[in-house]
Amino acid sequence: MKFFVDTADIAEIKALLPSGLVDGVTTNPSLIMKSGRDFREVVAEICGLLDGPVSAEVTALEADKMISEGESLAGIADNVCVKLPLTMDGLIACKALTGNGIKTNVTLCFSANQALLAAKAGATFISPFIGRLDDINIDGMDLIREIRVIYDNYDFRTEILAASIRSANHVKEAALTGADVATVPPSVLKGLANHPLTDKGLKAFLDDWAKTGQKII
Ligand code: E4P
Repeated sequence: MKFFVDTADIAEIKALLPSGLVDGVTTNPSLIMKSGRDFREVVAEICGLLDGPVSAEVTALEADKMISEGESLAGIADNVCVKLPLTMDGLIACKALTGNGIKTNVTLCFSANQALLAAKAGATFISPFIGRLDDINIDGMDLIREIRVIYDNYDFRTEILAASIRSANHVKEAALTGADVATVPPSVLKGLANHPLTDKGLKAFLDDWAKTGQKII
């Protein structure tokens, strides 16, 4: 499973890169607003930090304008992945942009039928939003499960990018369900390494080691 980090915060991305766990980055207009940075400038900076895809979202609503915005965003760097909303216009733009060799991430997906359409439009990634479905008492993981079956039935190459992930449990369930990618907030990614028994075991080992009076170097 690939991990993308869901942030436009440069410091957070830089802090995670040495772990080798970051395969890409996703942003959205809300994350850009939170960063307080110029959109094009921050996307260019993130793209320079890693080779993997960096999602940058269009804000136009009509297909022709989405295509123009998408082409402009794709000009920022080779690893820009143009994010498009799952609307009929977004699908038209997806088809046109992927036809021109531009990577696409179709976002705000809340149903298996929407995901089917995105795959038919040639999307590189489909982003089902797990947490936002859970928020309204619909099991977000069921959606990932359904999309996995449909994509496998028809051998669609579109990658399932589990989005709106809020917890370590979401990550585990998405991996068990066969999502290709999980985009996770930095805090959730860091939290995956934690276990109280690891901390307890480490403390016991170090206490005993101190009693030996030895040093490794
Ligand atoms: C990523 O591509 C999505 O925009 C993001 O995961 C949404 O997460 P949220 O529902 O926590 O805002």
